[in-house]
Amino acid sequence: MDLTLKIWRQKNSEDKGQLVDYKVTDISEHMSFLEMMDVLNEQIIEKGEEPIAFDHDCREGICGMCSMYINGEAHGPDRGITTCQLHMRSFKDGDTIHIEPFRAAAFPVIKDLVVDRTSFDRIQQSGAYISVNTSGNTQDANAIPIAKAAADEAMDAATCIGCGACVATCKNSSAMLFVGAKVSQYALLPQGQVEAADRVLNMVKQMDEEGFGNCTNTGACEVECPKGISLENIARMNREFLKASL
Ligand code: SF4
Ligand code: FES
Repeated sequence: MDLTLKIWRQKNSEDKGQLVDYKVTDISEHMSFLEMMDVLNEQIIEKGEEPIAFDHDCREGICGMCSMYINGEAHGPDRGITTCQLHMRSFKDGDTIHIEPFRAAAFPVIKDLVVDRTSFDRIQQSGAYISVNTSGNTQDANAIPIAKAAADEAMDAATCIGCGACVATCKNSSAMLFVGAKVSQYALLPQGQVEAADRVLNMVKQMDEEGFGNCTNTGACEVECPKGISLENIARMNREFLKASL
């Protein structure tokens, strides 16, 4: 396939940035989207120009790094996958593809397609953990009975990879799907009960301080989430927040 790419180039966080046109040739439909970006970067480097900066790590849908907005959708046109799992067979020869960074005030652009998502780290540090007694009297986790339904729901919430697609997709740049997943992951388990009230209050406070917007029940986040995190997690976070506030 030969493709035209319109890619966001931005030297640093102060630069205004702009879309720049590139032609990329001989792309196999079996390549992943990031392999296509690698081919383009090789062609750019051969011309002596600055390659396009983009985030990636695992390239198998686990780390949540590959934050790209492709043709107006977070992680591209397919559902339930990250950009690194997107294959070029989803496009046709001669296509024009727009590639931009995730956009949100709380995700400032560092360079080209790389955004700063340390706001997510700070939210997690404010409460997404449990304290464990490591004095030698630690209770065997297998000795704590957990209902199957609760374990399944907690596991589903824990599949959130912190990619930020929910924020990038939301018209309010809300992080409530992400925070709802992290709160739910612990709220559903007995181990999470000890710090439950502090957790939800602190995480919501940090979320607000980072500049994320509120949820207005549009549901776009759930549609674009590569891990299928359900809106039920936002409802659970709101219930936990109300309970903790009272
Ligand atoms: S809720 Fe989904 S879209 Fe949001 S950070 Fe987690 S995995 Fe990504
Ligand atoms: S590079 Fe890790 S999820 Fe895409």
